[in-house]
Amino acid sequence: MFDILVKGGTLPDGTVADIGITGDRIAAVGRLPAEAGRVIDATGDLVSPPFVDPHFHMDATLSYGLPRVNASGTLLEGIALWGELREIATVEEMVARALTYCDWAVSMGLLAIRTHVDTTPDHLRGVEAMLEVKRRVAPYLDLQLVAFPQDGLYRTPTGRQNVLRALDMGVDVVGGIPHFERTMEEGAESLRDLARIAAERGLMWDVHCDETDDPMSRHVETMAREVTRHGLGGRAAGSHLTSMHSMDNYYVSKLLPLIAESGMTAIPNPLINITLQGRHDTYPKRRGLTRVKEMQALGIPVGWGQDCVLDPWYSLGTADMLDVAFMGLHVAQMTHPAEMARCFTMVTETNAQIMGLSDYGLRPGCLASLVVLDAGTPTEALRLRPDRLAVISKGRLVAERQRNDARLDLPARPGTVRRRLG
Ligand code: FE2
Repeated sequence: MFDILVKGGTLPDGTVADIGITGDRIAAVGRLPAEAGRVIDATGDLVSPPFVDPHFHMDATLSYGLPRVNASGTLLEGIALWGELREIATVEEMVARALTYCDWAVSMGLLAIRTHVDTTPDHLRGVEAMLEVKRRVAPYLDLQLVAFPQDGLYRTPTGRQNVLRALDMGVDVVGGIPHFERTMEEGAESLRDLARIAAERGLMWDVHCDETDDPMSRHVETMAREVTRHGLGGRAAGSHLTSMHSMDNYYVSKLLPLIAESGMTAIPNPLINITLQGRHDTYPKRRGLTRVKEMQALGIPVGWGQDCVLDPWYSLGTADMLDVAFMGLHVAQMTHPAEMARCFTMVTETNAQIMGLSDYGLRPGCLASLVVLDAGTPTEALRLRPDRLAVISKGRLVAERQRNDARLDLPARPGTVRRRLG
């Protein structure tokens, strides 16, 4: 007898199957006897492995308006604003805000998050707070922390030293922000330095790389070179890569094969990139999202990241990775049926691959983490961004929601209406 049986759900590939859970593992998938401590009827619902967010800033989340709002809406004012906030925010405040965000995440079926933690200030209160949050949510949410020198590795006297201190304290991933160093050369040197640190310590590497509209920015090229040099392959991710949007097409035709050769992955953040990029343009205004489909065509794994929710850079957000994928789908013009389905895969399987999550998926033996959505298919989930009816994390039912029957009377889901009211 299973502890939990999720009955009759439709998996992302269209298969209809029951999922039996014992302890923290998926014990069986297929047509199973309805004997379990708890049976969840998922007939007609989409059952997916959990959502994964490979790019977030949890030390800043839910701080919107503190100490004031970002009036210009630019990345640079956001960084300046955050510079003020991180000096007055206490560990307790950051922990409380992050734990609230983690509750939101769980309710949305988002069960793994990679978050960049600013290591610029010598007090490292953000690192202390996020290590505490990671410890507290570990039973139900996997957090990966990135040592992120927000103000540059070399631009402050202790930038490099504080990245190393954070890694020594237990932060998991090496970060970076080459386009914010003083010069292009110092940006390139920061990448060589950080790649060495990641290689020597056997860590993953995730860089805010070329998050600008500058068509001449060349840090992605340097990063790919360092990934190849140190064999960091699947352990390295380039976040944002927005300058690639504005680059010369001939140059990009050389760059993309170098990225593919390195084995690195890419994390565009569509909600943020579409609002922050192009702010210095008049008209036409560039979208600023990196070249998603072109990278995918070369086999480069590309996920979608959330980046920000209610903070100095972004005034909206709900911890819903379907919102992220929905925006990405539009901005990258991924409207073919196969591309829409891929957008769902990007916020589940691809993001899990980018984060190096083990035992992820809906196969027997995998961790028993999944989400039941009030939708029939991945594409319908993107269209409706529906209720999460049940969320199971490591064998525990952590969120549940009554089906919104009232909506079933609307012609929102032709062919899937269960019953009519009146
Ligand atoms: Fe970011």
